[in-house]
Amino acid sequence: MPLCPGTPTPAHSTVTETHVITTTDLTKVYRSRGREVTALDGVDLHVREGEVYGVIGQSGAGKSSLIRCVNLLERPTSGTVTVAGQDLTALAGRGPRAGRELRQARSRIGMVFQHFNLLSSRTVQDNVELPLEILGKSGAERSRKARELLDLVGLADKAKAYPAQLSGGQKQRVGIARALAGDPKVLLSDEATSALDPETTRSILALLRDLNRQLGLTVLLITHEMDVVKSVCDSAALMENGRIVESGTVSELLATPGSELAAALFPLDGEASGEDRTVVDVTFQGESATQPVISQLARTYNIDISILGAAIDTVGGLQVGRMRIELPGRYEDNVVPIGFLREQGLQIDVPGHESALAKEGAK
Ligand SMILES: Nc1ncnc2c1ncn2[C@@H]1O[C@H](COP(=O)(O)OP(=O)(O)O)[C@@H](O)[C@H]1O
Ligand SMILES: [Mg+2]
Repeated sequence: MPLCPGTPTPAHSTVTETHVITTTDLTKVYRSRGREVTALDGVDLHVREGEVYGVIGQSGAGKSSLIRCVNLLERPTSGTVTVAGQDLTALAGRGPRAGRELRQARSRIGMVFQHFNLLSSRTVQDNVELPLEILGKSGAERSRKARELLDLVGLADKAKAYPAQLSGGQKQRVGIARALAGDPKVLLSDEATSALDPETTRSILALLRDLNRQLGLTVLLITHEMDVVKSVCDSAALMENGRIVESGTVSELLATPGSELAAALFPLDGEASGEDRTVVDVTFQGESATQPVISQLARTYNIDISILGAAIDTVGGLQVGRMRIELPGRYEDNVVPIGFLREQGLQIDVPGHESALAKEGAK
């Protein structure tokens, strides 16, 4: 069954799959000075083990609230958060007053911040050692671990430097090394690249991807930038007004008629050249190719087909092709050719027609 935009979708609900992060009906209501703000409004999130999962949405959508609830920096108003099989919401305490069990669970969740949050009075090495001090590790052990992590993030030669002596990208590498100190299974990243220039952003994303692959680390990252999702994420969710309105693997999203995320991940341009024309978007993944199908369509129905736009791209490591074509006649006249394209196993979207219907049907 295709995913339906507009409906929060439990994309990976099969029992055999392991979810390392699950939130169930998560809500967060902030109360301050008699005012209430609902930042999370029933969020069901399912992040599979070993994937890079991106949550995208505009400012104020609730992304930071979600990530802070996942590691219980914020206590959710209701709902549950399970990380690596443990129900964190059942553990006592909140914020800095977390109980021992919660602190322990949290040490297995790494967190990376937009503004790095390094201590300026400490060297790079001492910043990385900080969480290990809190865990009560011995000096020798801390030092060994910190050096290993700095090596992993490419900063072995900066151990004795102070944060002020580093570039933004280097500071974020320290932030990532520190987040890995407790050997987390899960890394949470809140806009980790938003303060960085595009080239540094690419190198930090590549580092997160490497860590994901090398360490089997599950990464949940929050961003307002579609390019971030496009370059590293296996799965993505779109947040609006405290709700997840679309979610799935990149492949599932691209196969979803009318998916806003798919359209944003892989935009296609081209307007119909007249009123008596029907625009059809054809998406194919992996090996299949559209070209022969399009010429077959033209021959079978004896119609002239214009290609308005086409592109091949890599989205989340997946080869994807998209073509926007124009058929003569209105939508109603093209039901049969459109059906023919679908029968060839291609993902077909008719902008302004069927995606709208799919949305209606989902309600
Ligand atoms: N500590 C807080 N107290 C009151 N309101 C908050 C607090 N944190 C966030 N909010 C509100 O919750 C909503 C979601 O914010 P946030 O989770 O930061 O969104 P995002 O990270 O997507 O920009 C916003 O309306 C914001 O103003
Ligand atoms: Mg935020």
